[in-house]
Amino acid sequence: MMPQKRIKIHDREFRVMIPAAEIGAAIDRLAARLNADYAARAALSPPLFLGVLNGAFMFVAELLRRVEFHCEVSFVKLSSYRGTGSSGKVSELIGLKNNIEGRDVIILEDIVDTGESMEHLLRSLSGHRPASVEIATLFFKPGAFTRDFPVKYRALEIGNEFIVGFGLDFDELGRNFKDIYVVTDGE
Ligand code: IMP
Ligand code: MG
Repeated sequence: MMPQKRIKIHDREFRVMIPAAEIGAAIDRLAARLNADYAARAALSPPLFLGVLNGAFMFVAELLRRVEFHCEVSFVKLSSYRGTGSSGKVSELIGLKNNIEGRDVIILEDIVDTGESMEHLLRSLSGHRPASVEIATLFFKPGAFTRDFPVKYRALEIGNEFIVGFGLDFDELGRNFKDIYVVTDGE
């Protein structure tokens, strides 16, 4: 066997887990489902894709090139900080400029892990009274997910390992990699 290429980010070592071609094929399949599900509705009112920065930028670009119905695209960010009270983490939705009332919204996220940040986003968006909200995520960790909202569109499911690449970062590095890397943890 060829020795696997390893890369170092900060103090950890990573190896390729999912090559770019496999990610592309998974996004092809996801786009085909969206094209089937939204074509008729989009002819009446184009849905809004809402990418979550920073991690989703590459997924948004790749997915949207495959979407065949009229749509709008915009981006939001969740700033999370520790609250001073007992409630712990607080998330604030920033950057929502569009009026989403009565519109079909599709959130585009890089990864849904425990689901905590997505739950905050869903709660913030529901206050703006959209007609519908669905979630399309590049990665989903079924073993880590602890919430009960539906995550309808999942390109790839993985275990509880930590990954980087294709927009995902380890302490802000690795977002530019075209393949997905996994931490090796002393292998
Ligand atoms: P949550 O646990 O679903 O709220 O995930 C919160 C955030 O953690 C995600 O939006 C990612 O930014 C980050 N995250 C979770 N798992 C990974 C991973 O495997 N690699 C890189 N970032 C991750
Ligand atoms: Mg993120």
